[in-house]
Amino acid sequence: MTTFHAPRIMEIGAGTVAGTAALLARLGLARPLIVTDPFMVSSGLLERLTGPLQAEGVVFEIFSETIAEPNDAIIEGGVKRIGPHHDCLIAFGGGSPIDTAKAMTILAAHQGSRMRDFKTPVLADKNLLPVLAIPTTAGTGSEVTRFTIITDTKSDEKMLIAGLGAMPLAAIVDYELTFSVPPRITADTGIDSFTHALEAFVSLRANAFSDMLAISALQLIGENLRTAFHEPRNARAREAMMLGSTQAGMAFCNASVALVHGMSRPIGAHFHVPHGLSNAMLLPAITRFSLNAALPRYAQAARLAGFAAPGDADQLAGAKLLEGLAALNQELGVPTPQKFGIPASRWDDKKELMATQALASGSPANNPRIPSHAEIVALYDEVYG
Ligand SMILES: NC(=O)c1ccc[n+]([C@@H]2O[C@H](COP(=O)([O-])OP(=O)(O)OC[C@H]3O[C@@H](n4cnc5c(N)ncnc54)[C@H](O)[C@@H]3O)[C@@H](O)[C@H]2O)c1
Ligand SMILES: [Fe+2]
Repeated sequence: MTTFHAPRIMEIGAGTVAGTAALLARLGLARPLIVTDPFMVSSGLLERLTGPLQAEGVVFEIFSETIAEPNDAIIEGGVKRIGPHHDCLIAFGGGSPIDTAKAMTILAAHQGSRMRDFKTPVLADKNLLPVLAIPTTAGTGSEVTRFTIITDTKSDEKMLIAGLGAMPLAAIVDYELTFSVPPRITADTGIDSFTHALEAFVSLRANAFSDMLAISALQLIGENLRTAFHEPRNARAREAMMLGSTQAGMAFCNASVALVHGMSRPIGAHFHVPHGLSNAMLLPAITRFSLNAALPRYAQAARLAGFAAPGDADQLAGAKLLEGLAALNQELGVPTPQKFGIPASRWDDKKELMATQALASGSPANNPRIPSHAEIVALYDEVYG
C-alpha cells in the first residue's frame, strides 16, 4: 500500500505570492500571523507578501524572531505570539521559518507539552491553525512535507517531528523570491534538494508516485544547480531549481530520506553546520557506501542528473556518479568538516553519540544498505578530513 501526503492546494509560478490574499479568501481565512526571519524584514523581501496583503485590506501580525535551524526555545516563544484572533500562520522564508511555523502550530494544539514530546516515532497529527508556506530558498521542500526539524536545546539533538500536523494546508511556490539567495546558500539548499531526490529514489520506501517526482527533480536539479550558483539572476535556472526542490520535497515526504539525512542532522545539531552543507559533506562517501546495494537505481539517477551519459551501463554510470558528486562539491566550494573548522578532538568525542542519534531518527533504516552503528562511526571518520 502507498499512502501519499501533499498540501491541499499549491500555487506555483512567477508572481504567485501576490495572490496570497485571494488564496486566503478561498480557504475562508482572514487573520494570519506571518512567521519569518529578521533578514526577510530588513531586506524588504517580506514586502512581496505584505504589500499585496495590505492592498487587499488583510489585517496581519508578524513574528520575525525565528532563527536558522530553529530550536525548541524559539518555538515556545512563537507560540506565545499566537492570539485568539489568528486563524492561520503564513510561513515566509527558507526551511527554518517554515519549520518554525509548523512546530508552533503543533505545540499550540497541545497545552503543557514540550517539543520533544513529538519526536519520531510519535505522530504529530494535530495542529491548532493551518499553515500556508511560502519558500524563499530552493530548498528544503518543507512547504510540501509533513516534517519539521527542531533542535532540543537540552540534548543538542536535531529532532525529526513528523505527522499531519506539520503538513501545510497550502504552498505558494514563487521562484522570483529566490533571485536574492547568495551563492553559498544556493549551493547548500540546492544540494539539500538533490539529496532529497536521490534519497527518495533509492529509499527502501520508494513507490510509483514518489519515483515520478524524484525522477523529475533529479533532472531539473542536475541540469540547473550549477547555473543557479554561478548566475543568481538566471530566471530559467531559478525556476527549475524551485520546481525541482518542491518535487523533491513531495518525493521524500512520501518515500522518506535515508542515511545522508540521518547522519546530517547530528552534525548540524552539535557543530552548527547549515543543513544542506552537512548533507553535501556526507553525500559522496555515503553514496559510495550504498552504491552496490541499489546499483540500477543509482545508475539511473546518475543518467537523469547528467553525471552519466544515457547509454552508460550501470557499473560505469555508478562510478561516474561518485566522481560527479565529488566534483560538484569541489565546484560549489563544499568544505570537509575539518576545513569547516571543527576540531578533530571534538569530532571524535561526538561521533559515537552522533551515530546513536542518526540511528534513532529512523532514516538510516530506509537506506538501500542499512548500516550498523560501527559502520556509521566509520563513515563519520571517513568524511572528516
Ligand atoms: N521540514 C522539512 O521537510 C525539512 C527538509 C529539509 C531541511 N529542513 C530544515 O530547514 C532548515 C534549513 O532551511 P534553509 O536551508 O532553507 O535555510 P534557512 O531558512 O535557515 O535560511 C538560511 C539563510 O538564507 C537566508 N535566505 C532565505 N531566503 C533568502 C532569499 N530569498 N534571499 C536571501 N537570503 C535568503 C535566510 O535569511 C538565512 O540567513 C534546517 O533547519 C533544516 O533542518 C526541513
Ligand atoms: Fe534536507
